[in-house]
Amino acid sequence: MSAPFEILGTDHVGFIVGNAKQAAVYYQERFGFEPVAYKGLETGSRDRTCWVLRQGKITLVLQTPMTRDHADIAHLAKHGDAVRDLAFLVDDVRKAWETTTARGAVSVMEPTVLEDEHGKVVVATIATYGDTHHSFVQRDGYRGAFMPGYESYTANKPAVSAGLEFIDHVVGNQGDGEMEQVATWYENVFGFHRIWTIDDKDVSTAHTSLRSVVVANENEYVKMPINEPADGLKKSQIQEYVEANYGAGVQHVAMYTHDIVATISKLSANGVEFLQVPDTYYEDLLDRVGDIEEDIKELQKYGILVDRDDQGYLLQLFSKPVQDRPTLFYEIIERKGARSFGKGNFKALFESIEREQERRGNL
Ligand code: FE2
Repeated sequence: MSAPFEILGTDHVGFIVGNAKQAAVYYQERFGFEPVAYKGLETGSRDRTCWVLRQGKITLVLQTPMTRDHADIAHLAKHGDAVRDLAFLVDDVRKAWETTTARGAVSVMEPTVLEDEHGKVVVATIATYGDTHHSFVQRDGYRGAFMPGYESYTANKPAVSAGLEFIDHVVGNQGDGEMEQVATWYENVFGFHRIWTIDDKDVSTAHTSLRSVVVANENEYVKMPINEPADGLKKSQIQEYVEANYGAGVQHVAMYTHDIVATISKLSANGVEFLQVPDTYYEDLLDRVGDIEEDIKELQKYGILVDRDDQGYLLQLFSKPVQDRPTLFYEIIERKGARSFGKGNFKALFESIEREQERRGNL
């Protein structure tokens, strides 16, 4: 079955935050993103300020409402700093919007042409799970820094790249019993297909539990695991998220690097906090994953995790939440053939998350 419309990849991840100027510094100093574009009072944008940061092919847009009656204020009050928009790059916005809305998606913004001296960008937006949006972006060779309305920006101090290259996947947490309908929605509305599932039996810590279905677009540049909590002895980390976020939302964004040891060493030096597994994780690592190219001592030094599937192996590491609420975090991932998502690490990882949940009084 061919796709109902083509998605070329992820265009950007849009956030609503309380103070975009300071959040931009956080992403620059901790994660190595370069601030490249800006709109705000100085550019004639009076109701919102946006900072655009880039590293490799990853673009983040941090947006803060500037007026007390701005529509984004409600999002900010409900969710705190959070992902608002997973924007897809397409070659035909009108077709993407017409197809998805005809198949039941709720429109947030009809196809709109934005134009300046650097060219033309077409954008439309639909709603998905929770209060999350998907924008469709058609660039047609646009030559400006980001989009019409933005000025290019050069920081006084340039960013130092951590080697993050592109978005590997973006995970959406759902409420109890909502995973299946959301996964089905992506199949029906976007023509996505399922590439991977886990059920609660795969995730065997005494306490936390989850189910997950991964949906992907035709070329699999867009991969979205959809999670829901499952019953355990104590509260699922997914349930903790849904309570802190007051509903469904983006749980983590996984960013790809081709040299995870180099990337993690930079991010750690920058002060990014990662989940730590016990040293015992490395004692039987080779028995579990077989031969790998990396030096285990290096992996252990940074707490990098390894998992193998029938096509190869992957290396991954998860940050702690990047805001006060235990909601959004980041994954750093390198793939050496493996196309899965690290099921073999769930037990060690979830025990680490549970230690954090315990400290937060949320277990
Ligand atoms: Fe992930």
